[in-house]
Amino acid sequence: MINVQNNRKFDFETVSVDEFWNTGEEKELKMHRIHAYPAKFPAFITTKALNYAYAQSLHVDSMADIFCGCGTTAFEAKRNKINFWGCDINPVATLIAKAKSKKYQPRRLLNYLNRISARFAYGPVENVYSAAPERLKYWYKEKQYNDLFLLKKVILHFTPPSSDYRLFFLCAFSNILKSTSVWLTKSIKPQVDPNKKPRDVMAAFREQCRSMMVANAEIDSLSDSESEIVTGSFLGTALSPPAVDLIVTSPPYVTSYEYADLHQLSTLWLDFALDYRELREGSIGSRHHAYNFNREWKRLNHTGARIVSRLLDQHKSKARSVTKYFLDMQQVAHRVHGMLNDRGIVLFVIGNTEYKGVRIDNAKHLSESLFSAGFNCVQATKRKISKKILTPYRDERGKFSSDSSGRKVYSEEFILIGRK
Ligand SMILES: C[S@@+](CC[C@H](N)C(=O)[O-])C[C@H]1O[C@@H](n2cnc3c(N)ncnc32)[C@H](O)[C@@H]1O
Repeated sequence: MINVQNNRKFDFETVSVDEFWNTGEEKELKMHRIHAYPAKFPAFITTKALNYAYAQSLHVDSMADIFCGCGTTAFEAKRNKINFWGCDINPVATLIAKAKSKKYQPRRLLNYLNRISARFAYGPVENVYSAAPERLKYWYKEKQYNDLFLLKKVILHFTPPSSDYRLFFLCAFSNILKSTSVWLTKSIKPQVDPNKKPRDVMAAFREQCRSMMVANAEIDSLSDSESEIVTGSFLGTALSPPAVDLIVTSPPYVTSYEYADLHQLSTLWLDFALDYRELREGSIGSRHHAYNFNREWKRLNHTGARIVSRLLDQHKSKARSVTKYFLDMQQVAHRVHGMLNDRGIVLFVIGNTEYKGVRIDNAKHLSESLFSAGFNCVQATKRKISKKILTPYRDERGKFSSDSSGRKVYSEEFILIGRK
């Protein structure tokens, strides 16, 4: 069923694609799409990981996602009646993940929406634009800014603090922040689209709430298994992850997505930080990091050191970012090992990239890190991401490009499985 290599020295070039990991057997539930999220993985990965674990005779009572993002694994754990623990360094991610892992009463949702809409229509809209933070003024026209300001106020007024319903409506609010601004649609780099006509705030909000209500109605019920989702760095000292049987996760890529920058509108509107750049700190794979390269690079494992020394000739600052990323991932491997119960399993979905002709072999680096962390068995297989990619190259702004000297993104990624 599952085509894997199990060897301390994988030849990743010869690991072949396994159809098993390419597609799911059922249609993905709408709840998985209630909020846009960069590099979200398909929900069926969690189902397949569970099936894989069961096939290995692992009894799964608890599972975790240490980079939980918008809560794909969290929601699937709930559906499968499995206790869940997840963390993400970005509060926008954990807001979505928490909102997704709940079942709401449709009548109450409608009731809240009607009250919010009625109060909003009553106005009057205050003109708060002149006092808006510059960082938000940059992205919003006056009308949209004033309307969003009022909408947020009304949501907070009508929904009880710390209630699931407040989470639901704040999540809806968060997902309309880009369409109501001049943010270039679908861009993975923050940039203004001078020709964009931002959407009307209330029309966008009502449409968003309706689609989330349809998603909620699609779920019959959610189990009452426990779900703890926390905001913080997996590598920090503030979190205390519980021991679990199974971890399913996809780590960040290196320098591809600046999550703090991409989530800046939600961060600022929802008061997660006064300056969204504060949230770059500790974010694995970020370009922004402070560390002593000359001292630290010596801790790289064999694969890491080989890749970084090749990159150093091409691009020094990239080599520094990749070094920090590899060192963080080495630490992740150790922490994950410490978190798993005996015979527990970790499954990573991880892709490689290429920069100026140097292959950044994240999968190979992570497999070596897993062995060093003490995993007895590490297996690797490959899946196809999408058939739709026209060119694998991206320019500096993250756009598709035909320039083969840029960053290369592969249309395949690896499934790495470690067993204690
Ligand atoms: C590839 S995404 C995960 C997507 C997720 N599988 C989903 O389906 O939504 C990687 C995530 O790692 C998070 N991250 C980056 N550094 C982190 C850290 N030090 N601790 C915890 N999460 C981190 C990012 O905020 C991002 O949400």
